[in-house]
Amino acid sequence: MTDAAQQEPGSASAATPLASGNHALGIDVGGSGVKGGVVDLDTGELVGERQKILTPHPSTPDAVAETVLEIVNRFEWAGPVGITLPAVVTSGVARTAANIDHSWIGTDAAELFSRTLGGRPVSVLNDADAAGIAEDRYGAGKEVDGVVMLLTFGTGIGSAILNRGVLLPNTEFGHMEVDGKEAEHRASSAVKEHKDLSYKDWAKEVSRVLERYEQLLWPDLFIVGGGISRKGDKWIPHLTTRTPVVAATLRNTAGIAGAALASVTSIGR
Ligand code: BGC
Repeated sequence: MTDAAQQEPGSASAATPLASGNHALGIDVGGSGVKGGVVDLDTGELVGERQKILTPHPSTPDAVAETVLEIVNRFEWAGPVGITLPAVVTSGVARTAANIDHSWIGTDAAELFSRTLGGRPVSVLNDADAAGIAEDRYGAGKEVDGVVMLLTFGTGIGSAILNRGVLLPNTEFGHMEVDGKEAEHRASSAVKEHKDLSYKDWAKEVSRVLERYEQLLWPDLFIVGGGISRKGDKWIPHLTTRTPVVAATLRNTAGIAGAALASVTSIGR
């Protein structure tokens, strides 16, 4: 899988040399791509290029683990690794599987990745949780000293809740029923696409979902992520929540940065 065509446009074909410093490697496993990068833990920024390999199909645990190994090798990284999954992960074990092969359910992902990566320590956590800890520390939530709720809008809705920087892992608010329908079936960006909704009409559905969350959780800030947050100016102004809503700022590196952070903390172990 070293085919240059599978790398990010403009990325270096050789492994990114490791500089010394407060760096860690994060890998974000998604339904379409496995992305990795070395992160400066002081700033949350990538050191060097991001590497991406298409998610194998079927995306079974062994196939994904081999892809993760390939990314780790590209960086010539010998230390611990943080890895996200689009799944609930408790004590390293995947409990659900969204947009990845169902055989992940019940898989000890931490054991599998650690074994595939030569026995080194790994941290495995939910993808939205990783984005949440990164946005909270380095991105849109860094000035907020209260309860921050991050939602990622994509095929589904991922959620992360942090209180003063501390994550409550594996919240699955995308699956909460809102007015008789699962939140992610009402307001994911996939729904906008399938129903061909305007930003304004889709924002009504997003408001309905966020308003329910705020009734229950009273966050100080909502951060909205996922690809559609890049067009935040088209829909965030239409939202009717009392809680301020801002677009994620780390874009497609939030999951990588959060995974890297997790690799040096107890999160995801
Ligand atoms: C899953 C979450 C995941 C989110 C984003 C949801 O369908 O249940 O675990 O974080 O999608 O990938």
